[in-house]
Amino acid sequence: MDRQTLIQAAIKVLPDSYVPYSHFHVAAALLCKDKSVYTGINIENAAYSPTICAERSAFVRAVNDGHREFEAIVICGGKEGVLSDYCPPCGVCRQVMREFCNPETFRVILAKSVEEYQEFTLKELLPLGFGPENLG
Ligand code: THU
Repeated sequence: MDRQTLIQAAIKVLPDSYVPYSHFHVAAALLCKDKSVYTGINIENAAYSPTICAERSAFVRAVNDGHREFEAIVICGGKEGVLSDYCPPCGVCRQVMREFCNPETFRVILAKSVEEYQEFTLKELLPLGFGPENLG
């Protein structure tokens, strides 16, 4: 699975995000170790705090289907769905990634288009993160 295909998968679902309050559309495409792809969108709520981010939507869908190992995630987003800038993952989503992903190898790809993207390891975005192994 190349980066372009994963980016296309995220961009395709961007219009599905439910964002009546912020109008800030976010979409994610999560690549599992077996090469299956799960997309996610942000889903807002009138009470605001129950809002779920696109990245966690994707993880929830994949983990429900039994996936536990992941290689990469593409994230794209912008006001009114216009991808004018990169959309970095929030701290809560970084921590959810840390639960399942190797920080040294899991790649977080921020995309503005199939040609314009930035790539990071999870460790770069969440240094010294707290993971399952910290519980002993
Ligand atoms: N959002 C995400 O979906 N992912 C992030 O990592 C950052 C923020 C969403 C939540 C909310 O619906 C909107 O973007 C504005 O914060």
